[in-house]
Amino acid sequence: MNSRPHVAVVGATGAVGIEMIKTLERRNFPVGKLTLLASARSVGKTLKFLGEDITVKELTKDAFKGIEIALFSAGGSISKEFAPIAVQAGCVVVDNSSAFRMDEKVPLVIPEINSADVKWHKGIIANPNCTTAVALMALYPLHQAFGCKRIFASSYQAVSGTGAKAIAELERQVDQIVKQQPVTKEVYPHQIAFNVLPQVDSFLPTGYTKEEMKMENEGRKIMHHPTFRASVTCVRVPVYRAHSVAVSAEFEKPVTVNAARSVLAKAPGLQVIDEPAKNQYPMPLHMAEQYDCAVGRIRMDCAFDNGLAFWVAGDQLLKGAALNAVQIAEELIK
Ligand SMILES: NC(=O)c1ccc[n+]([C@@H]2O[C@H](COP(=O)([O-])OP(=O)(O)OC[C@H]3O[C@@H](n4cnc5c(N)ncnc54)[C@H](OP(=O)(O)O)[C@@H]3O)[C@@H](O)[C@H]2O)c1
Repeated sequence: MNSRPHVAVVGATGAVGIEMIKTLERRNFPVGKLTLLASARSVGKTLKFLGEDITVKELTKDAFKGIEIALFSAGGSISKEFAPIAVQAGCVVVDNSSAFRMDEKVPLVIPEINSADVKWHKGIIANPNCTTAVALMALYPLHQAFGCKRIFASSYQAVSGTGAKAIAELERQVDQIVKQQPVTKEVYPHQIAFNVLPQVDSFLPTGYTKEEMKMENEGRKIMHHPTFRASVTCVRVPVYRAHSVAVSAEFEKPVTVNAARSVLAKAPGLQVIDEPAKNQYPMPLHMAEQYDCAVGRIRMDCAFDNGLAFWVAGDQLLKGAALNAVQIAEELIK
């Protein structure tokens, strides 16, 4: 791989795409050339990179000529159609959608956990689900130290996880309510302002949603832990940015709060914010636009013999998407 590759952002105008451009810039990724791709609707728009206006082009089958790394965040169906075309044109694709995550031929990578998996890619590398990524940043170091058997978890997921239209929906509904106007819904099946929705993604015959099962399925693949079990309830909350997850984890080996704290304090990409006496714990408001995730509320779980309860929060547009993708790209050019 060229040390100053030609990079493309596919879905450049979206919530994740915009963060990818900013992250490439903030981390001084050695971009040789940047190409921005989106739908025909966005052709001609300009987005800034390193002080320059770059014009958005339409994603077409011929768009990948000369591009070496393509960061995809335009939805699963676009990835399924265009990622193989990009690979054919000589590109390495880092894909943010769920299209290839569970494909045995595609590595699924969180660099702090399994960066070595990047090496066996065959053209596509998948970025994990955003809630899974945030939870595993705290769970994996604990698993390494104490051997995680299973977790029960509930997520508190920000609207930006659904994309730019959902951010606009929350803004609009808050405005409508303040002005005592009728509330209109376009993205979610119910009002999200001043409400919580116990549904993220579509329902499976088991009663879980697809999003809820990603924690177990993707967690097994990323942690190389085929017997990991996760029972999760995913909830959308009226927060603009950063997901939080309340986790109860059961371990093989004896665990204590102090031993867990010392493991977590050394974990890369993770801060410990855990001073209950001073009301200090991670909150989405403070985690927004931060690269690190944070863990707090660390306590012995009173319903497990050998369990730990904790709360982890992180910016899902960054660690759950753009940052993780750029970190994978950094691994590619090492
Ligand atoms: N949001 C998150 O926190 C998050 C986290 C992890 C993964 N992801 C995944 O990342 C992807 C994008 O999410 P997002 O939140 O950024 O969504 P978004 O804000 O709705 O943005 C979607 C992007 O895809 C582009 N696009 C849509 N249809 C297209 C088409 N036919 N051809 C070319 N480009 C097209 C859009 O371009 P136009 O502006 O031209 O329509 C836009 O740039 C999804 O697969 C999502 O599951 C999102």
